[in-house]
Amino acid sequence: MNVRFLTMLVIVTSLSLIAFRGKVVSTIQTGNLRTELLVNPIGIDASAPRFSWEVTGEQRGIVQQAYQILVASSAADLAAGKADLWNSGKVNSDRSIHVPYAGNPLQSRTEAYWKVKVWTNKGEGAYSSPAKFTVGLMNENDWQAKWTGLDKYFPWDTITKMSRLSARYFRKEFAAPKEVKKATAYISGLGIYELYINGNKIGDQVLAPGPTDYSKTVKYNTFDVTNHVKQGKNAIATTLGNGRFYTMRQQYKPHKWHNFGYPKMLLQLEVEYKDGSKQTVVSDDTWKVTADGPIRTNNEYDGEEYDATKEFPGWNKVGFNDSKWLKAELVEAPGGNVEAQMNENMKVMQILKPVSIKEPSKGVYILDLGQNIAGWIKMNVKGKRGQKVKLRFAESLKPDGQLYMDNLRDALVTDIYTLKGEGVETWAPRFVYHGFRYVEITGYPGKPKAEDFVGEVVYDDMKTIGSFETSDRTINQVYKNAYWGILDNYKGMPVDCPQRDERQPWLGDRFMGAYGESFIFDNSKMYAKWLDDIQESQTPEGSIPDVAPNFWFYYKDGVTWPGTYLKVAEMVYNQFGDVESVRKHYSPMKKWLNYMQDKYMKNYIVTKDSYGDWCVPPEAPHLIHAKDSSRITDPKLLSTATYYHMLQVMKKFANLLGKQEDIKEYDALMANIKSTFNKTYFDSEKKQYGNNTVTANILPLAFNMIPEGASDAVFKNIVDKIMVDNNGHISTGVIGTQWLMRWLTYNGRGDIAYKLASNRTYPSWGYMAGNGATTIWELWNGNTANPRMNSQNHVMLLGDLIVWYYENLGGIKAAEPAFKKVEMKPAMIDGLSYAKASYHSLHGMVKSDWKKNGKTFTWNITVPGNTTAEVYIPAASAEQVTENGKKATAVEGVKFLRMEGDRAVFEVGSGQYQFAGKQ
Ligand code: BGC
Repeated sequence: MNVRFLTMLVIVTSLSLIAFRGKVVSTIQTGNLRTELLVNPIGIDASAPRFSWEVTGEQRGIVQQAYQILVASSAADLAAGKADLWNSGKVNSDRSIHVPYAGNPLQSRTEAYWKVKVWTNKGEGAYSSPAKFTVGLMNENDWQAKWTGLDKYFPWDTITKMSRLSARYFRKEFAAPKEVKKATAYISGLGIYELYINGNKIGDQVLAPGPTDYSKTVKYNTFDVTNHVKQGKNAIATTLGNGRFYTMRQQYKPHKWHNFGYPKMLLQLEVEYKDGSKQTVVSDDTWKVTADGPIRTNNEYDGEEYDATKEFPGWNKVGFNDSKWLKAELVEAPGGNVEAQMNENMKVMQILKPVSIKEPSKGVYILDLGQNIAGWIKMNVKGKRGQKVKLRFAESLKPDGQLYMDNLRDALVTDIYTLKGEGVETWAPRFVYHGFRYVEITGYPGKPKAEDFVGEVVYDDMKTIGSFETSDRTINQVYKNAYWGILDNYKGMPVDCPQRDERQPWLGDRFMGAYGESFIFDNSKMYAKWLDDIQESQTPEGSIPDVAPNFWFYYKDGVTWPGTYLKVAEMVYNQFGDVESVRKHYSPMKKWLNYMQDKYMKNYIVTKDSYGDWCVPPEAPHLIHAKDSSRITDPKLLSTATYYHMLQVMKKFANLLGKQEDIKEYDALMANIKSTFNKTYFDSEKKQYGNNTVTANILPLAFNMIPEGASDAVFKNIVDKIMVDNNGHISTGVIGTQWLMRWLTYNGRGDIAYKLASNRTYPSWGYMAGNGATTIWELWNGNTANPRMNSQNHVMLLGDLIVWYYENLGGIKAAEPAFKKVEMKPAMIDGLSYAKASYHSLHGMVKSDWKKNGKTFTWNITVPGNTTAEVYIPAASAEQVTENGKKATAVEGVKFLRMEGDRAVFEVGSGQYQFAGKQ
């Protein structure tokens, strides 16, 4: 048996850890141990990092019975078993995730080494290999650095409706008189920074730090730079780009755009010498600065212009003559609390080679990456000094083979590179990203070849933890499109789209989306950070905006968009066991509900809604939104039903946190809302809600609001609407689609869900794929609608599709938080002959791989250590089920629980199983 660490370490808001990853070789027999130093925001109490590990082993049914954690301040002490920081002692518990640190108080800069040993029903494990974490700067007075910048613009910049601002370069030299034992750099460079020591770029992050409302919170990153600081003279340097701090749409719509000022930085380098003495180098007005460098302008929407003739070789190394540079200035702090960033930074995560390059008109080349991505192009180019290569980006092409840019609105999406004329020059922008599949290249010296370019895909450095495949080609293709759409839109926060002049973290898009995404990516840290962003954007009265961080000010007081706050908290709890986020956000969530109730609830009906069932398939191909009233669901019905659901979620949270009084309050309010809702919207003769749209009926069905005995009839209306009125096609928008696939399946019509999922005719996800989509469109009619609002890379129409893929087709669902108990219940749907899914939960790997052949069903599953699963096997009786060729009822550790319809339900512990059943 061996113990495998998965996520170790943990630190919180005011802690940080060294942001490098280290692989530690196993000290236990079978190898395969992995310890990664990961930023992890889940431990919320600053003094209590939380520890998680995986228990794996060959035997079946492994259950942890006890654990012991040792934490020491040096590797040597830990190895010697001297746990000077914390020895948990042997704790009888099956808990293996989020165990809070309970040792001596952790101080800023503490280095901690830890390991864990477990006792199980199958024997005792050895100690795991050690892992390390480092505490950041927890107190304000740990910072000696000063906010440094230059609050002005330069003659080559412009401050207009669409401002253009060049990047700022900062540098300083310092002497490190003695032999260096350890060096750590803490940096926040706003909007975005690059850090160099002695000419070397520190870290592989891009577009860092994570975006926030900088007047509330500023994130800093920490780096172990021991290998970079040398005894003797050193140079430390940064480049600052605009990011979301200095918004480029200066005079555009001031009421709409948040602008924070000119770029600035806070940087502290702490050097510890071998003799024990220390030195701190900080950002302040002893630094030099210039904006007259190669990055002439940079901005997320309009592009980056880089003039290589303006490069100043050696600027970030010792000995550079900076006498013409300006003196950096002390500037006002951005206002927000300076906190360690616990979610992942963005990185170049994938590199794509172009699939073709064409020349639709003379000198205009169009490069095709074959995939809609968010990132940039890195190119090789050789030519004369001063020649300019211009790159423009788009998601699709016009019939004439040129870029289709109408849907980008006023984002200029143009990168310009000016050659220095010194052999082959390699360039990629630093402070921008584009959403694109195609690139227009003009001005390239000679004839560009595909090999001269690669697409670099930029998103948050998260692990892909899920895989999914079925026998249906459309489902597989849509899954792939969703995977790309989701990762493209992770930008330190979930944005709506990566290409046009918007790119905002809209809440509504992720109401259910975050949950589906959590099967594919370990998005736990990013979403925990986003919960903080949302909370910070709450007004003192309690209003939650539609966009958070509120780079756009959209306080419209609907329920369906702001309600994402609660749904994301629910997601991180269910999928990742993050109770702390629920605890932390409970009060602001409740405050929001009270605010909405006081202000907008009249007679138990919520009277305010902002967007309706956004983006239903409209009646005419060119429309963005339907005008036909039969397609539109009453907005008050949407908000009232959703508010009711919010109370269901709050009740769950209140239960978790032991808030009995609140539960009573919620119950009373729910009873009133339910009865008024039914009086107002339910037609008891026709058994329909509102005007009988699928959305109007599916919300009360999903929220259990339907009067006793009427659910079947309401469900029949849903079925008729889809199958008869809509000819087997989807008719819901962002709201209805969040519940559609699962509730069709739960009510015995998985076949209809399957039809919607595999359709290739309009409107459907398959229609998008069939019409060239490599991501998911904003509109069902994305190939014909008005370009004003027609992104080809929006994830909001996914609804609950991804959840349905994993839970209902794959058969992998968390029956208890973080998959401590797994429900494995794949829907048997005619036409689907196999599904294969895997999911790396916090407890370990879950796998499900089933095949159907006539009436025979075979199923290979893997259940992680220290968990159990309930498996639902299609069979006429328990006797029909075999496991590895033997009667399942006779196999040790496989426990028959009950028959449920056409399923025999068994309980199993960890391990691999091969089931077969006959119907
Ligand atoms: C955005 C959507 C958003 C919607 C709400 C659109 O412009 O792209 O993602 O949810 O507006 O109004």
